Amino acid sequence: MSAERTVVPTQVGIVGAGPAGLMLAHLLGRAGIDSIVVEKRDRDTIHATHRAGILEAATVRMLTESGVDGRVLTEGHEHEGTVLRFQGESHRIDFQGLVGHSVWLYPQNEVFRDLAAARERDGGDVRWSVRDTEVVDLTSDRPGIRFTDADGEDFEIRCEVLVGADGSQGVCRRSIPEHERTDHFVEYPFAWFGILAEAPPSAPELVYATSEHGFALISSRSESVQRMYFQCDPDEDVDDWDDERIWAELQRRVDGPDGLRLEQGPIFDRTVLRFRSYVCEPLRHGNLFLVGDAGHTVPPTGAKGLNLAFCDVRVLAPALVDFFGTGDASGLAGYSATALERVWKAQNFSYWATNLLHAQPGENPFHRKRRLGELRAITTSARGAAYFAESYTGWPED
Ligand code: DHB
Repeated sequence: MSAERTVVPTQVGIVGAGPAGLMLAHLLGRAGIDSIVVEKRDRDTIHATHRAGILEAATVRMLTESGVDGRVLTEGHEHEGTVLRFQGESHRIDFQGLVGHSVWLYPQNEVFRDLAAARERDGGDVRWSVRDTEVVDLTSDRPGIRFTDADGEDFEIRCEVLVGADGSQGVCRRSIPEHERTDHFVEYPFAWFGILAEAPPSAPELVYATSEHGFALISSRSESVQRMYFQCDPDEDVDDWDDERIWAELQRRVDGPDGLRLEQGPIFDRTVLRFRSYVCEPLRHGNLFLVGDAGHTVPPTGAKGLNLAFCDVRVLAPALVDFFGTGDASGLAGYSATALERVWKAQNFSYWATNLLHAQPGENPFHRKRRLGELRAITTSARGAAYFAESYTGWPED
């Protein structure tokens, strides 16, 4: 540790250079507001972390209209619908026909790459690979971030507004005293076993499948790389699963009289993803504001996580522009309540879709048949399907 801390002033200090933190820094930069982002990981590690791959249209617009990059439009794939598969039959939900919206398949780590490149291009200040990050004086008008940078030098950022974009395990939320926040959460008795495989696509659109053996999701990354998941025990050990066993498990979850066959190939990445539903209320403490996973996490079914993080940014960025431009703090005062309205809608959808499509361990026949009844009600009624389509593609902005 060096003898002294170098103190650096800025307007907005941001902890976390995931998509939410970088998107916020980008929008602030365009409005002439200074920020510094600190991040404990390096760029390559974040880029190599596989997350979900579905972007709502509003998320895509944020990337393209704010001048991050248009790569999402050329390299992403527009999906005008998705498939719900149960009792061995596929039922297409036609997003465009039902609600007039599409989603884009474009992996979150590519969103990260585009945002990091845009920050670099625009001269944004992002400190990668920092350690010992601490946030201080949160309820003062000069909150701070202390950290040691990649070269071992100690820094202190002093800002007017501090933003916690440091994910579900980050320091920001934990720095809010327990009596000042309420943690709401639900645990699930299952997890996802995620794989990446070198294989051609098995289906033109995503397939969300449920069977007596549990849930499976057939997604894609490119013409030659596929992303798939299947429901597993949270304590499952990836080393117990060779390629043959994984393909057999995935195949039996999509088997049906139509003969759907998964295209197989070498599996080069396998991870067990545990998940829970979580919301921190409120999303503000003094001059600390939480965005994205730092404030709330959803189970992965429906891929709402990144989209919801961008919704937070869509509320917080204009509030900060007003605050720094005219001193009007009303947007900041309303941030938590406004963002939470959307958060709870997405929490509901993610929880509902998860329970709809996953078999509870030891599920009794009544519950299984009830789930199938609900799936049939959704897929055989335009109104039922429209509810799913609207939630999946993203509700209209209020
Ligand atoms: C993917 C992940 C999801 O959770 C989902 O609902 C859809 C797609 C994916 O990784 O491709």
